[in-house]
Amino acid sequence: DNRLTMEPSKEFVFKYKGFYFGVNTSAEHVASLENFEIKDSDIFIATYPKSGTVWTQNILSLILHEGHRNGTEDMELMDRIPWLEYNIKNKDFATLPLPRVFATHLPYYLLPRDLRNKRGRIIYVTRNPKDVMVSYYHFSKFITTLEEVPDFNIFMERFLAGKVLASSWFDHIAGWYSHAEDFNILFLTYEDMKKDLRSAVLKICNFLGKKLSEEEIDSVVRQATFENMKKDPRANYENLPDDIAEKKKGRFLRKGTIGDWKNTMTVAQSERFDEVLKEKIKTLPVKFTWDINSEM
Ligand code: PPS
Repeated sequence: DNRLTMEPSKEFVFKYKGFYFGVNTSAEHVASLENFEIKDSDIFIATYPKSGTVWTQNILSLILHEGHRNGTEDMELMDRIPWLEYNIKNKDFATLPLPRVFATHLPYYLLPRDLRNKRGRIIYVTRNPKDVMVSYYHFSKFITTLEEVPDFNIFMERFLAGKVLASSWFDHIAGWYSHAEDFNILFLTYEDMKKDLRSAVLKICNFLGKKLSEEEIDSVVRQATFENMKKDPRANYENLPDDIAEKKKGRFLRKGTIGDWKNTMTVAQSERFDEVLKEKIKTLPVKFTWDINSEM
């Protein structure tokens, strides 16, 4: 039955305030975040999944922690920059060293209320939704906490209908962009980062009011390239526990390219995708620098 295959399995997700969460968090935890107390130095990396979250996490860690050093050399990204709504390691957020940095896939309306008063900072990263979808599809195969949908056509229909963890790509983007003025927010795109990583690092430093020397900037850029991150055990997310990742089936840092959707989507699928998203993209209060059909 088609309608059945369209619904995400309750074994993997639940809905809270119109948004799909993975079952490794709870509605209580998510609800508690609304009143989560923000410190002015707090930084949030907000994204729709597979848009460049971990890449941005790594850049922030390099900028803020002197190339990862400063006392906690072996600390992995997930410990340095925990996931806000998936506190899988049960960290006490209140005692994290300042500035605290969190990663989140939350829609704008579920973030801590304090952030609305322009306290704290948010970095929001977007990516061509076709590449997002393809990355997501491959990711679902090796992350055991995500439902694997082997048929790409079905996966695409669910993605387009927002019936996946983190719901609709379009709603996420539209929500954040149209409420931008409520927040202290910097928008970045995966494509711009890929084309000119140094400029992206400078933009981030500027946004954070952080002054680095030329050499320090060079070092951040060097360590944040795909190839170098892939080799860096603190950054490559390869130490995920076995009950979360089936490591034989894939890697977190998979390809790291622009336009890889062309290797998975057929022309017909691409046209179907365009049909659903093109009209919607036009109504966004932003003009993206990428074209959904480009490889750049
Ligand atoms: S998640 O699960 O939401 O946190 O995933 P996220 O980190 O947002 O996205 C994962 C994709 O980002 C790619 N990635 C990079 N690309 C270029 N350069 C660097 N340094 C980099 N680091 C991560 C990663 O490979 C995933 O994309 P795909 O297309 O699957 O390779």
